Amino acid sequence: MSNSDERTEHMRQIRDDVLNFKESPLYEDRVKNRYYPVIGQGSHRAVVMLIGEAPGKNEALTSKPFSGSAGKILGELLGSVGILRENIYITNILKDRPPMNRDPLPNEISAYAPFLDRQIDIIQPKVIATLGRFSMGYIMEKFGLLEELRPISVIHGKIFAARAPYGDITIIPLYHPAAAIYNPNTKEVQLNDIKALKQYA
Ligand code: URA
Repeated sequence: MSNSDERTEHMRQIRDDVLNFKESPLYEDRVKNRYYPVIGQGSHRAVVMLIGEAPGKNEALTSKPFSGSAGKILGELLGSVGILRENIYITNILKDRPPMNRDPLPNEISAYAPFLDRQIDIIQPKVIATLGRFSMGYIMEKFGLLEELRPISVIHGKIFAARAPYGDITIIPLYHPAAAIYNPNTKEVQLNDIKALKQYA
């Protein structure tokens, strides 16, 4: 997919499909709370794609990924290596907020993953950095890296080479930015790991 207008049109179609995704286990909750789905943000021609877990409350109220406290930390991490948000693409596996920010359930991941797959097909990123263990597990399996999958504490910041249908791709598992909220020592590690992205964005 080369043309920018085409990419934008396909992305709009994803937004409409998510908006109308009434079979979603999270649809009722979205409507009841007047939340928005969170599709993604950034350049449709990005080389680097960041994939988080699911929108939090702030994100569901604004429709912008990583616009709350985890987003503030993500901004600091990206800023530390001079990466501008508008040059990358940021999204999540789940496009709707799970109640009380609980972990995504397997059936929610499988329900929303096809939207993420379509976003990857549209943007065709050369690098995917996963944020947290849920997107790490999904993306490593998707790109045939299941044998190399380990706990995030073991493989954070490591660089994995894989093949996408459109060419070579690099997968970099990163801790979720919110990890620094619960354990401030993680921040040092995150500041170091994010350096792996600097050369691409
Ligand atoms: N946490 C995520 O994983 N994604 C967001 O968009 C916000 C918080």
